[in-house]
Amino acid sequence: MQVLLADEYGFCFGVERAVEMVEEALEQGETVRSLGPLIHNDQEMQRLGKHGVTTISEPVQIGRGETAVIRAHGVTPDVQRELEEKATKVVDATCPFVTRVQKLAARAADQNRHVIVVGSPDHPEMIGVKGYAPDHAFVIRDETEVANLPRLRNPLVVAQTTIKAKTFFDTAAAIRLKTDDEVQVVNTICSATRDRQEAARALAGMVDAFYIIGGRHSSNSVKLLAVCKEQCPKSYLIETEEEINDADLTGAERVGVTAGASTPDWLIEKIVKHLENIGRDDSPGLRP
Ligand code: F3S
Repeated sequence: MQVLLADEYGFCFGVERAVEMVEEALEQGETVRSLGPLIHNDQEMQRLGKHGVTTISEPVQIGRGETAVIRAHGVTPDVQRELEEKATKVVDATCPFVTRVQKLAARAADQNRHVIVVGSPDHPEMIGVKGYAPDHAFVIRDETEVANLPRLRNPLVVAQTTIKAKTFFDTAAAIRLKTDDEVQVVNTICSATRDRQEAARALAGMVDAFYIIGGRHSSNSVKLLAVCKEQCPKSYLIETEEEINDADLTGAERVGVTAGASTPDWLIEKIVKHLENIGRDDSPGLRP
């Protein structure tokens, strides 16, 4: 049985950078506290937990002598200020792609323009971005919510980094009907999600079974599962190798593997090795 990895999988640039920044702080002997879970992967959080990283939900929980980490989603300027006041050190691991959206929003607000961000209003990234354009920004999910907006003043339209391009452009087109002013549309969608989905889609038609490694509450992993299932009905979302059922691999000659943007390499390697061992196994369960 051959185990084939998709061309793009696992940690995106922003998550990898955030984990590296935390590891650097740990190497300096700092007490590291992340505001919100650093990444949506229980296994990686447990590994970091063993090294002393803990998660807090409010800046007020930070103590003197501690290092506060801002995760890749970013935070509002108010929250950042609060962390800076309380913590001895702040590690700002906001993904640079998110920082770009924050800066665009802040600049437009300074010019007294409206800012429309297409995304999920409750997502931490959106809460952070909105904080950069107080009184000027609206976060809407899609074109169906455009009708609720007021008349817009020289609007800037940007996107949550992980949404679908079609949602963004359809919403931007609808927004043009809400103003007589010029509309500035800046596509701020990050390609990491799309790249992983396209690579998974390309592999799914060539394999007999597909394993997507990722957290069950990681939305990009759940989307990867849906993409793989379209072409490979035996597609499974797993968090660890213990969830692999050998019977699902009966008769399989080729097995595909991909992983969500929060899945660390060490976990992917462990699961790939496990699958390769099953493939080498002569057990009757694997015979067609
Ligand atoms: Fe950044 Fe894109 Fe990842 S915005 S956190 S590289 S999904």
